[in-house]
Amino acid sequence: MRKSKLLTVLVAAVLGVSMVGCGTSGGGSSSSGSASSVANKDKPLCWFNRQPSNSSTGELDTTALNFNKDTYYVGFDANQGAELQGQMVLDYIKKNIDKIDRNGDGVIGYVLAIGDIGHNDSIARTCGVRSALGTAVEKDGSVDSSPAGTNVDGTSKAVKDATLEVNGKTYTIRELASQEMKNSAGATWDAATAGNAIGTWTASFGKQIDVVVSNNDGMGMSMFNAWAKDNKVPTFGYDANSDAVAAIAEGYGGTISQHADVQAYLTLRVLRNALDGVDIDTGIGTPDDAGNCLTKDEDYRYSEEERSYYALNVAVTADNYKDFTDSTKIYDKVSNQLDSGKSAEKKVWLNIYNASDNFLSSTYQPLLEKYDDLLNLKVDYIGGDGQTESNITNRLGNPSEYDAFAINMVKTDNAASYTSILSK
Ligand code: BGC
Repeated sequence: MRKSKLLTVLVAAVLGVSMVGCGTSGGGSSSSGSASSVANKDKPLCWFNRQPSNSSTGELDTTALNFNKDTYYVGFDANQGAELQGQMVLDYIKKNIDKIDRNGDGVIGYVLAIGDIGHNDSIARTCGVRSALGTAVEKDGSVDSSPAGTNVDGTSKAVKDATLEVNGKTYTIRELASQEMKNSAGATWDAATAGNAIGTWTASFGKQIDVVVSNNDGMGMSMFNAWAKDNKVPTFGYDANSDAVAAIAEGYGGTISQHADVQAYLTLRVLRNALDGVDIDTGIGTPDDAGNCLTKDEDYRYSEEERSYYALNVAVTADNYKDFTDSTKIYDKVSNQLDSGKSAEKKVWLNIYNASDNFLSSTYQPLLEKYDDLLNLKVDYIGGDGQTESNITNRLGNPSEYDAFAINMVKTDNAASYTSILSK
């Protein structure tokens, strides 16, 4: 009797709080389903995976990041991850120095698959690997991330030969070749293109290739399966997609987890919080009523100025890969179902820039699909062709049907293609 009375009081109190919350939130709407009363320009918006920015300079697009008061970006810490990737490759080389130089010429040669020369993450990874291995050159005050093309003779201007001393012996490290893996239709991070490139490279200088490095696992696995695996050449990627993690048992050198389980959660969580009119930190750095909470500075960091949440990366190698075998497993710390009484069902429009991107389709989207249930969000997933923004925006014909939006642009410069639709 007493207990149920207490419960009633508690429920009333919570309802009271959430009603106040809804009333003060621009993005909030107390009725479930459509958000017709809220203007599209005021609805919560989360950019993810491709941060609105200038693809030539990397400068953030602050207009897009501040589209309205409920706009955020969710990605991961590109520089921290890139450093980890470079260090992982260097550590492997040092540890395996006795067998790494396959033709014994004293030159440790690597090839590098570049995802997208205008994408911050791709640029950071290219720089990270070159900096750790010592092959980086400075251009205009920062590391040159441009593709070297073919550099078997070591004369490229984009990179330089490095010297590595291990156990009293001196080796040269050379970036033998690198190129952007873009297909003829314009899709970047293209795994098939990487598979073709390794074929071309190995046909002319295969014996000199001692290490294969890639800006992501999609391209890395394509090169591994096409050549590196059979030739026992360690291959390093990024993303910790399940197939790449499994391949570590077969000689794939390693990968980096960009904590997609944290990113997918944050992508939907910031929308949920804005829709509920609660503090943005709810269920992120501060436990929500269901007990969901991440660990700040271990799982993620937040930059208020950049309106951006960045998940933190972890290296996945032969030492720890067994902990990462399922990349679509949700994170334990944020696996509790929200109460639909407090967080009523809302409709979200979400797009993936390229339905065939390995990371987004095999890791990120399956995670989103698990979290959307937990967060009571009904999400429409739209898969793009990876080439044109219009292929996606054409399918945003009626934004008024939705309560919130999560956007993954084809090109980081193109935020206005979306915000112009929401501003109409
Ligand atoms: C991932 C890549 C992916 C790209 C798409 C990156 O963060 O590592 O695998 O292709 O995002 O934007």
